[in-house]
Amino acid sequence: TTVEWEAASYDMGGHDTYMHKEIHEQADAVDRVLRGRIDDRFSTVHLGGLNLDAREARQIRRVKILGCGTSYHAGMIGAQMIEELARIPADAEPASEFRYRNAVVDPDTLYIAVSQSGETYDVLAAVQELKRKGARVLGVVNVVGSAIAREADGGIYVHAGPEVCVVSTKCFTNTTVAFALLALHLGRTRDLSVRDGKRIIEGLRKLPAQIAEIMEQEAEIEKLAQSYAEARSMLFIGRVRGYPVAREASLKLKEVSYIHAEAYPASELKHGPLALIEPALPTVAIVPDDDLLEKNRAALEEIKARSGKILAVAHQHQEKADQTIVVPKNEDELDPILMGIPLQLLAYHTALALGRDIDKPRNLAKSVTVE
Ligand code: AGP
Repeated sequence: TTVEWEAASYDMGGHDTYMHKEIHEQADAVDRVLRGRIDDRFSTVHLGGLNLDAREARQIRRVKILGCGTSYHAGMIGAQMIEELARIPADAEPASEFRYRNAVVDPDTLYIAVSQSGETYDVLAAVQELKRKGARVLGVVNVVGSAIAREADGGIYVHAGPEVCVVSTKCFTNTTVAFALLALHLGRTRDLSVRDGKRIIEGLRKLPAQIAEIMEQEAEIEKLAQSYAEARSMLFIGRVRGYPVAREASLKLKEVSYIHAEAYPASELKHGPLALIEPALPTVAIVPDDDLLEKNRAALEEIKARSGKILAVAHQHQEKADQTIVVPKNEDELDPILMGIPLQLLAYHTALALGRDIDKPRNLAKSVTVE
């Protein structure tokens, strides 16, 4: 199968860049991470490689997720899913920070290392240190047989297929789906009801078609990108489920277009960043249709009152925004998987308008195998 992957994946398939190709591969990639894993009989999923039996799964007291860059952002989404669906306290931290702060290693914590390449040195070093101290470490990895996959006690392959562009897109999406599977699995070995299990499974099954729907908006997003290409700096905001989406979207934009971008929790606006708001600083706001909708709308009002330009990514048109990209609604817990995808397209088209080297942004490498 490795040979098949290689032959198919290094062909551009009619796209001008690997980034564009990989963004467009996401519906199929998500289909692959789901394939063969859903168990309708028990409203759960099978994750063969976890090496974690039900008794062990029930004994986990905390989950700590470690990764770098985009993988860290996928881990932030994963931590929220695990808390919501399995009710296990969970958080994510950059692997690089974790390994330098002499962290307390707790035997009842499940550690999860996230890495597309499976070779990122900071993540690998954190895994090795954790293993040396007797911790249980799982990997959420794309590249089969990579160093982190080999070092971990078990894990989940995200099956996104080879990702060539330095800027990660489809691996981010598939990693968030892999976390949804893990959260569902942990939830169903604990207190998540059959009904909620079914609800999540139905949501997961909708994802590929919903991603295809987002791709249909590319022409409009391309037009938007023309105007944002003039910005010197952009602010990305989101609250709770929307915050890691804002973080990742801001990273995508800065990596590929070199436009300065900063992500903030929407709730923190009034504690400082509001001072930046003026017509020349556009804000991209993640506004899911969940129980925080009104709070997020209030943040849009705050920005509008100061003449800030707003692009909303939402499930319905937002009156206070100058433009809204409407994304298909899924289950609340799964919405973060979809909401960043139009912003990958925005980053791509902004970079294209600026004539950037999209697949190989300056100063960056696909995998950072040094300290
Ligand atoms: C992604 O767009 C970046 N190029 C970068 O942040 C990347 O996610 C990070 O270096 C981690 O890589 P990994 O997932 O292969 O460990």
